[in-house]
Amino acid sequence: MLTKIPIPSAVDAREIPPWVREAIQRDEHRIEAFQDQWDRPQIEQFVAADFCHVYQSLDWILETQLTIGKRFLEWGCGFAVVTALASSLQLDAIGIEAESELIRHGRETLRHWDRGGELIEGNFLPAGSESLADDPWLPSVGHAAAPAYEKLGLDLDDFAIVYSYPWPGEDDFHEAVFEASAVPGALLLMFCGPNDLRLYRRRPNR
Ligand SMILES: C[S@@+](CC[C@H](N)C(=O)[O-])C[C@H]1O[C@@H](n2cnc3c(N)ncnc32)[C@H](O)[C@@H]1O
Repeated sequence: MLTKIPIPSAVDAREIPPWVREAIQRDEHRIEAFQDQWDRPQIEQFVAADFCHVYQSLDWILETQLTIGKRFLEWGCGFAVVTALASSLQLDAIGIEAESELIRHGRETLRHWDRGGELIEGNFLPAGSESLADDPWLPSVGHAAAPAYEKLGLDLDDFAIVYSYPWPGEDDFHEAVFEASAVPGALLLMFCGPNDLRLYRRRPNR
């Protein structure tokens, strides 16, 4: 079971260090330039979150919520900006991404931020979890890449905080995967659209 933890709307008034704001702006420009390229196939599933809001929410979580550890995982990291900003908040952050081109851009992001972080090319869905989807056409489902966890040497239940940006209609599936494989006490932060960040804690099984 998951317990929903309300994130106060005032979270968007939290201070963001100037260097973090600048780094986010630089990455937003890089992402815009990447998406404006007309001479290569678009990666349709890559859409970027509101990174300032994610930073503010994560900072609030670390200040107000109990966390069971420091391991942070970004599901489908794209340019890995959230992995970078989680690292800047002293989390041991790892991003998983199926698209090798995005992994290359993500590594550049981590180099720019220079706060650590690690990226793994592969599938963020643990083996067998696709069966939890009630729709086989969900964007997270059906990637050819093998689950990244073996390569990583960690399982989903080794992470204290998981972050994801589900497509509309995919949020229930991400919640179900987290509920099935995360450790009790772990947190799931989901960016579900502008001003719609959701936080859940995995409850112990009865
Ligand atoms: C909506 S974008 C979010 C990017 C970034 N996390 C953010 O918040 O800005 C979703 C990303 O997840 C990747 N993705 C989707 N399903 C995946 C899967 N099963 N395994 C690994 N990556 C996946 C896509 O390639 C895309 O880059």
